[in-house]
Amino acid sequence: MQGTTFKYWLVLIVPGIAVIAAGVTGNQDGKDDRAVIRNVMQKAMKGGIAAKFAKGEASADERAQLITLFTSLTGTKAPKGDAKSWNEKTSALLAAVSANDRNAFTKASNCAACHKEHKGGLAPGKN
Ligand code: HEC
Repeated sequence: MQGTTFKYWLVLIVPGIAVIAAGVTGNQDGKDDRAVIRNVMQKAMKGGIAAKFAKGEASADERAQLITLFTSLTGTKAPKGDAKSWNEKTSALLAAVSANDRNAFTKASNCAACHKEHKGGLAPGKN
């Protein structure tokens, strides 16, 4: 019985996250996208959950947080650079955490490589 209940909730929760991510990122002007990207950077990257995951020290909760954050990231447009490259990089982050693959994640979360290609000018509100 318990197994069935768990599966039932999973069926509800997974599309729920996708709908929330689509709602957060569904915009035209890219301003909201930047807010989403910055939220992911602050919480996942700068906040240190990403580093913990790369070292194999993230809890199940923290890994779930990363999946939610990177799911929101995959629907965004980068402030700068090629959309195809951005989609590949953000999908690689999500795929690595989903597959619990620390090596792939270390490769995908190269801060400088992505910033050089996709980080725009001043942050919104500062320009
Ligand atoms: C997949 C691409 C990508 C990766 C990987 C990435 N970043 Fe970023 N990061 C961005 C982009 C794009 C911005 C610019 C967001 C904006 O202001 O529009 C950014 C901005 C930031 C900011 C500024 C956020 C703010 O509030 O203005 C910080 C801090 C940051 N990144 C930290 C990191 C760190 C630390 C890592 C590595 C552990 C990292 N990022 C990896 C794409 C990436």
